[in-house]
Order: sequence, then C-alpha cells, then structure tokens
Amino acid sequence: MSAVNSSREKVAVFGGGIMGRGIAQAFLMGGYRATLLSRSEATLAAARAHIAASLEKLGSFGLARDPEGALARLTTTTDKAEALKGAVLLAEAIDERLEAKQELFAECERWADSETIFATNASHLDPEEIFSGLASRKRCLAAHWFNPAQLVPLVEVARLSYTEAVYWEKTVEMLKRAGKTAVKLKKPIQGLLINRLFCALAREACHLNDIGVADIEEIDEAVKATIGLRNFCIGVFKTMDLGGLSDWRDCLELLLPLMDNSTRPPDSMEKMLAEGRAGIRAGRGYYRYERSFDSAEMDKEIVDRDEMMMRLLKLKGFAW
Ligand SMILES: NC(=O)c1ccc[n+]([C@@H]2O[C@H](COP(=O)([O-])OP(=O)(O)OC[C@H]3O[C@@H](n4cnc5c(N)ncnc54)[C@H](O)[C@@H]3O)[C@@H](O)[C@H]2O)c1
Repeated sequence: MSAVNSSREKVAVFGGGIMGRGIAQAFLMGGYRATLLSRSEATLAAARAHIAASLEKLGSFGLARDPEGALARLTTTTDKAEALKGAVLLAEAIDERLEAKQELFAECERWADSETIFATNASHLDPEEIFSGLASRKRCLAAHWFNPAQLVPLVEVARLSYTEAVYWEKTVEMLKRAGKTAVKLKKPIQGLLINRLFCALAREACHLNDIGVADIEEIDEAVKATIGLRNFCIGVFKTMDLGGLSDWRDCLELLLPLMDNSTRPPDSMEKMLAEGRAGIRAGRGYYRYERSFDSAEMDKEIVDRDEMMMRLLKLKGFAW
C-alpha cells in the first residue's frame, strides 16, 4: 500500500452482499480506505469484481473522478481483527437477524480500537436492541443506507439513547466528507425516516389500486410525473410552504379521514406472495419481467434504473 493511501482514514465494512459492497464503494469514492469483510473468499472476489465494474461505469458517466485510485484503496479479508485494525468506523451490513448482528458486534468489541464507531445498517430491527449488550454502547449508532449505496446519496444517521454526541457528529461529518447526504436523526425510531415515509405512500398506493381507482401503471406514472419530480427538487415541507399552508391544512383535514389507515400489509399483497408473485426475482410482482433475477448479471430493469439515477445525479452536480 502506498504512503498516500495509508494516510487516509480507514473504514471497515462487514458483509459482502448488495449493501456491503455498495457502502464500501461509496467510502472508496469518498476518499477513504475501505476493508470489506465477508465469510468467504468467493463472496469477496465477487464483491471486488462488482465494485470494479461499478466504478468503471460511474467513471464513464463522470460521477467517479478517480475510479482506479478508489479501487486501489480497497482491501478484502475474512479476518475480523485484520479488518478492524486501525478502522475509525465499522459499517455493518450483514443479514437482517438480531442475534447475528448482536453476536458480530460483541465479537468486534474485542478487536476494535477503543474509539472505533460501530454503525449498523439494519432496516427494520430496533437499532437500540442490536447494541444493548455492549460495554462500548456510547460509540454505537445506526447509519442506514439505500440501495444502490454507491449511488443513492442519503445516509440516515440516528443517535441512539446511549450514543455520545461526539461519535454521532463524527459519523455525519465523515459521510459528508465522502460526498454523501448525511441526515441526522436525534433519537432512534424503528424504520427511521425513509422507510416510514415510503410505507405511508405504499399503503395508500395499494389501497387506491385495491378499491379500483387506477391501475398500478397509472399510479406509478402519476407519482413519477408529480411527487417524484417535485420532491427531487424541493422535498415535503418546502412543497407545503410553496403551496401555502392554509391550502395544505384544508387538504389534510378533508383527506386524512378518507385515506387508508390499516395497520397490516394489504391483503392483495399477501395474496400475490402466496401465488409466488414476489417481484423481479420471481419474474413477476406487480409487473411481469422478461426473465428472473440472475445474480451473475444485473437485471436490465435495475441497470436501466441505475443509469437513470446516474443522469439525475449528474444534473444535481454529484461527483465523487
Ligand atoms: N438491500 C437493501 O435494499 C437494503 C437497504 C438498506 C438496508 N439494508 C440492510 O443491510 C443489511 C444487508 O443487506 P443486503 O441486502 O446487503 O443483504 P445480502 O444478503 O445481499 O448480504 C448480506 C451479506 O452478509 C453476509 N453475512 C451474514 N452473516 C455474516 C457474518 N456473521 N459475518 C460476515 N458476513 C455475514 C452474507 O453472507 C451476505 O454476503 C441488512 O441488515 C439489510 O436489512 C438492505
């Protein structure tokens, strides 16, 4: 490793799946050294190939300024002590199982430096529970990324009841330095911000389809052509400000009692799952797909989505 590389801060990323490799790539593009840990050399080799291909693609879109330099800062290992040696942050992205995450962090506590920040990427689990058994809870928090992590700018950084402010602030600052949009959550809440907001939208979208108001294609087109575009530019609260709060107040007063307020996933979705219509990987969900998901080759729908995101990110001035 060159002197220049070793002078950069090091991040350890645990879990070589979809999120782990994306998170590692985001830190690499942001100028950090990253060590990716997984349980098998085969997973690590696949993750490295994936990162290399993605860096090349981002380079071709003008979104990665130094793809070769980023790749040169990647190391991989199956050894936890080696991965943690000198790491300022541990970004965990293993399976969404409470005991697995608890066991992993308990083990890492033995190997990590006394100031290493422990960050979980858990989606649905209560982040408070993940670290509750650790002695070093003060430097534990939730840093939640979105797929594909190397492209989606947002990382939600939630301070837990036991997180000391200095570690929360440092994580946000590190992510901002990496060119990510790091948003601070002052207290833990299951689902954090975005999964909760998306669930509210998804519940009403399913309801509108279930009661026969519009087909799914029409609902998707409507969202992309209004809320999607507007929120890409100004977000929720500014949308309300620009429209005028008295109008939005009247709208909320009228519509909220009429909207779906169920606390269970829609029956229509349960039925689809029972029929094996589980989404792109099954070849059929709300839409029908040409072929089922092939992990060796990215599905065309996902490639198309990523390329559209890259064009939009460029428009917004992102480049790492
Ligand atoms: N996929 C998403 O869109 C998304 C978005 C945000 C958060 N998350 C969360 O990120 C985490 C990872 O999700 P993913 O989609 O990358 O899953 P994945 O299945 O693609 O990858 C998980 C990887 O972790 C490895 N692993 C499991 N236990 C391990 C251990 N003890 N030590 C080391 N490696 C281990 C698995 O072998 C696998 O390679 C989950 O908590 C998930 O809920 C996922």
